Amino acid sequence: MIDIDRRDFIASLGGAAAVGLMSHEARADELEEELNRRLQLAQAPAQAAESSGFPTAAEIDAQITTRSYRRGAGRNFLNTDGENVARLPAMPAAPTFLDFFELRFQSSNHCLQSANKAMERGVDEEIVLACLLHDLVQVLMRTDHGYWGAQLFEPYVPERTSFAIKYHQALRFYTDTEAGYEYPDLYRRIFGEDYVPAPHIQADYAMLRDHQWYDAPREVTVSDLYAFDPNAVVTIDPFVDIVGRHFKQPKEGLGNDGSTVAHMWRTIASPDAPL
Ligand SMILES: [Fe+2]
Ligand SMILES: [Fe+2]
Repeated sequence: MIDIDRRDFIASLGGAAAVGLMSHEARADELEEELNRRLQLAQAPAQAAESSGFPTAAEIDAQITTRSYRRGAGRNFLNTDGENVARLPAMPAAPTFLDFFELRFQSSNHCLQSANKAMERGVDEEIVLACLLHDLVQVLMRTDHGYWGAQLFEPYVPERTSFAIKYHQALRFYTDTEAGYEYPDLYRRIFGEDYVPAPHIQADYAMLRDHQWYDAPREVTVSDLYAFDPNAVVTIDPFVDIVGRHFKQPKEGLGNDGSTVAHMWRTIASPDAPL
């Protein structure tokens, strides 16, 4: 049995106020990460003695068979704490983005904080929208979420917005001090301190360095990093007009418009469908 000191754990997450603002899923994820980290340290005392406190990539890899699920699974499809899932509220017949935001994108607080930060920084509306959308697809799929997210929103938002969503994932692995972005400790914790990004991430980073729109995904990462303010009070209200101006809502409703991504919206709407 591994013991975790409750006060230490809460402090490591930014204090009680920060924990109070985290979603149930986020708290469960953090607890699971911490338990797995301690398990690894307990099993590898020699390595732990030399460790910086972050796991190695090999230690992260060794955790795969300690779970009953895979880490890439969308948050709406499982409870990582082992509890039963809740019944989801019914969706309207022709759901809008705001319906999905309210009824299905359950971990939206982080994205709201990110969009708020971007707005405070004075960035343009296409990028504020990218910040608002950047991690929402994690209800469906966490693995490669930038790419999944860009695909989900691409038919409905400006090209620069989906570009920013797609590539924020790659740029999060690369420090840009001039832009105000440092490699996050969170990534040392969840990927391992010696993790090397996958070849497609490396290739996309090389491409982005010379791209005219580099600043778009970079701005998402800058607003992303500071999007965990425990005192932030955020709602969708300041962004409703931006969504109205830049999100092309199909009149049939998302999932019913016959687009190439309609099935993705239907899957988010109806995750209990067995096939
Ligand atoms: Fe992200
Ligand atoms: Fe994020």
